[in-house]
Amino acid sequence: MPSAGPAVETNSKGPRLAVCVEDLSKDYALGDERVVALANVSLNIEKGVFLALAGPSGSGKSTLLNMIGCIDTPSRGRVFINGQDVSGRTPDQLAGLRARTIGFVFQTFNLFPVLTAEENVEYPLHHVDEIGRRERRERVRHFLHVVGLTNYARHRPNQLSGGQRQRVAIARALVAHPEIVLADEPTANLDHRTGRNILRLMRRINRETKVTFIFSTHDPQVIRMADRRVDLEDGQIVRLGVRARSDWRYAFDRARDGDDA
Ligand SMILES: Nc1ncnc2c1ncn2[C@@H]1O[C@H](COP(=O)(O)OP(=O)(O)OP(=O)(O)O)[C@@H](O)[C@H]1O
Ligand SMILES: [Mg+2]
Repeated sequence: MPSAGPAVETNSKGPRLAVCVEDLSKDYALGDERVVALANVSLNIEKGVFLALAGPSGSGKSTLLNMIGCIDTPSRGRVFINGQDVSGRTPDQLAGLRARTIGFVFQTFNLFPVLTAEENVEYPLHHVDEIGRRERRERVRHFLHVVGLTNYARHRPNQLSGGQRQRVAIARALVAHPEIVLADEPTANLDHRTGRNILRLMRRINRETKVTFIFSTHDPQVIRMADRRVDLEDGQIVRLGVRARSDWRYAFDRARDGDDA
């Protein structure tokens, strides 16, 4: 099985893995046709990595993120999050797992327009019963500070710039102390410089907190900031790169190793 990290045991679902994807396929029925969005994808993702999913439009990036995030179910194959097989779980169980383990960041920010920045950040904590009001307030304050928005707590999304909205979304993704943050094209709606700053912020948080970040992007500048890269084409992994100083070392490269490597 290709692995997005050095020296990860084949098939290991051990404590070092945030995500293990086994022979995952996803088909969509479109009228009489069957669209293959992912075909037999296997991948190990170590805890704490900052991983870019790259590939052309339609290559399956969002589909793979949705499977890892348990917001869509595979046609075949399995997904393990923190060593736990998530297949066969009820929607309620999956919602519980998502609320505690996974934070999401979206291309279009997906903030509630009627809520202030602090209310948006607090929102996921309403799904985690054991966190009391005081702890909630403290976390919201902390994560607004982490993303540099302490002075914007009472602003509504339409009173914030795109970059600031995405910062709110990042604070919201972190507030439940997830193990993994999934971000589908988090910089696509931002200008280049703002996008780069958002990525720098995500990378700083990744280094300081060891939260695993998995994000999709088309932007070569953004890919350059990752320490792992997974390249998809037509629903298949074609390359797995590990950062080696300023360059990539390819643990797997279909063009080099052949289809059955
Ligand atoms: N709900 C759906 N119904 C039918 N086909 C779908 C559905 N969702 C995705 N697909 C198809 O699956 C394939 C992979 O789509 P996906 O959205 O994962 O690509 P992507 O790499 O995220 O592309 P982009 O860079 O444009 O966001 C595409 O061919 C797409 O048309
Ligand atoms: Mg997509």
